[in-house]
Amino acid sequence: MDLKKYIKDRCDIVDKALDRFMPPGDALPSSLHTAMRYSLFAGGKRIRPVLLLAACDAVGGELEAAIPAACAMEMIHTYSLIHDDLPAMDDDDFRRGRPTNHKVYGEAVAILAGDALLTEAFVLLANPEFLKVSPTKMLAVIREIACCAGSHGMVGGQVVDMESEGKSDIDLATVQYIHTHKTGALMKASVKAGAVLGGASEEELAALTRYGEAIGLAFQIADDVLDIEGTTEEIGKDAGSDQEREKATYPAIMGLAESKRRASELVEMALAALETFNHNADPLREIARYIVARKS
Ligand code: IPE
Ligand code: IPE
Ligand code: MG
Ligand code: MG
Ligand code: MG
Repeated sequence: MDLKKYIKDRCDIVDKALDRFMPPGDALPSSLHTAMRYSLFAGGKRIRPVLLLAACDAVGGELEAAIPAACAMEMIHTYSLIHDDLPAMDDDDFRRGRPTNHKVYGEAVAILAGDALLTEAFVLLANPEFLKVSPTKMLAVIREIACCAGSHGMVGGQVVDMESEGKSDIDLATVQYIHTHKTGALMKASVKAGAVLGGASEEELAALTRYGEAIGLAFQIADDVLDIEGTTEEIGKDAGSDQEREKATYPAIMGLAESKRRASELVEMALAALETFNHNADPLREIARYIVARKS
């Protein structure tokens, strides 16, 4: 299958929907809405919304039912990036090929733009106008996304990431915790939300959950590798940032070669989880391979 075309088509759908859902830049307070749009439309890979739509496709679901949730995942992810780049966190100057949000709009607006993206994501998820599944199912999706974004998910991972900076005695279990939480959680939530909105059976949901967990960890290992092997131009963000901040990463504790081996092993696990799925899951299969092969 042509993954490039699939991703492009799905990205176009997501970008158009995001543009519809987001207030225009001149809506009051315009500084805030302009800052939200600045990071949201800066050209991210859109991997989480594409995963959500691909999981919906994998179970033969209707795309229409999944589009608002796909947009919500991208809004939550973009908020996490804006906050991750702040001076109090990774203190990075470059993101998605542009100066970071706080460099352009200042720290206060950047913090608030992140807060608003997170909150508006839930406004979108809870909009009854877009409800295409039972309210009970939708509540389960909203709860799953909230849990994966909160203190037991992404935010929890970010805290341990910060607390592990500069420490020489970090073990594999801690790095695995950081990665499965700061990054894996939102990816798993994307896959699970797409599956539920697409009408997955219990068995399909369990298999897709295993898929989501495996690629979530693989994605962050690949991100660690790219921080070392990629250039700032290629990855659109400050290369070498992890070493500079002495971050707890896979390459830092086990070297590049072993990190890459583990990422490939996780992709195999993800593919194995999809064994019983038909060709509708081909996009998910291709995305798993892309996650470790990517250069940006
Ligand atoms: C970057 O995510 C942050 C991580 C969780 C590794 P992406 O690599 O998906 O960033 P964008 O969305 O393409 O900018
Ligand atoms: C960030 O991990 C994860 C989140 C934003 C939640 P990183 O700090 O490694 O992401 P990059 O490398 O800055 O994109
Ligand atoms: Mg970080
Ligand atoms: Mg960072
Ligand atoms: Mg990184």
